[in-house]
Amino acid sequence: MFCLELWRLDKFIAFSGAASRREVRLLIKAGRIQVDGRAAGGPEQKIDPQTASVYLDGQRISFSAHVYLMMNKPAGVLSSTEDARDRTVLDLLPETLRKRGLFPAGRLDKDSEGLLLLTDDGDYCHHVISPRKNVFKCYEIETMGCPTPEDCAAVAAGMTLEDGTACRPGRLEILEAGQTARCRIRISEGKFHQVKRMLAVLGKPVLSLRRTEIGALHLDENLKPGAYREMTAEEAQLALQTGVSSL
Ligand code: URA
Repeated sequence: MFCLELWRLDKFIAFSGAASRREVRLLIKAGRIQVDGRAAGGPEQKIDPQTASVYLDGQRISFSAHVYLMMNKPAGVLSSTEDARDRTVLDLLPETLRKRGLFPAGRLDKDSEGLLLLTDDGDYCHHVISPRKNVFKCYEIETMGCPTPEDCAAVAAGMTLEDGTACRPGRLEILEAGQTARCRIRISEGKFHQVKRMLAVLGKPVLSLRRTEIGALHLDENLKPGAYREMTAEEAQLALQTGVSSL
């Protein structure tokens, strides 16, 4: 990426998510920020965001044009950017990150849990969610009633939803059979309530749903529900891969 402009130091630090602009002023006054080996001059100091070495308390603040977060979405929170009534996943982030204009790369229903990506990179989001890119999403679900081999074959063949919408082929596997069964389903699209509607057509309603994978990226199981962390560049790339070798 080329950046021809110099940036204000406070903008650079706020953009990195390390502190808000207001906090930067205080941090500079306290002598906690160094630029190119010297105490920072002031919030308005101009720096080249790609080459300057900026440290906060001895920790390098790196320039990233975009932010890529992985969240373990809890149930009860909307995966939208704002809502008049309900809490959204953005409410789970600190102000410095909320200000970056992040949005979810693919949604989960309010009662669904698990892997949710948040970014401010529109092209990245498009790649993750576009069915044409063939990025498979994997969900662990609990169903009322146990899917049959015929149900698995129907998912593999490409199902038709109750309103006539055609789905691309997916893969349904039974993990634990029983009156309520634990299953895994992989699909490469994100139509509205798609998994629930597919299982409803099969007569095995979904009781709970948790997304565990996007492409070749797995949810970090150390993230408690509601927790998030920045992804490494390698992790962000894994979510662009298809994630299945064959169906
Ligand atoms: N399919 C659904 O039905 N719900 C989700 O949250 C995700 C996929």
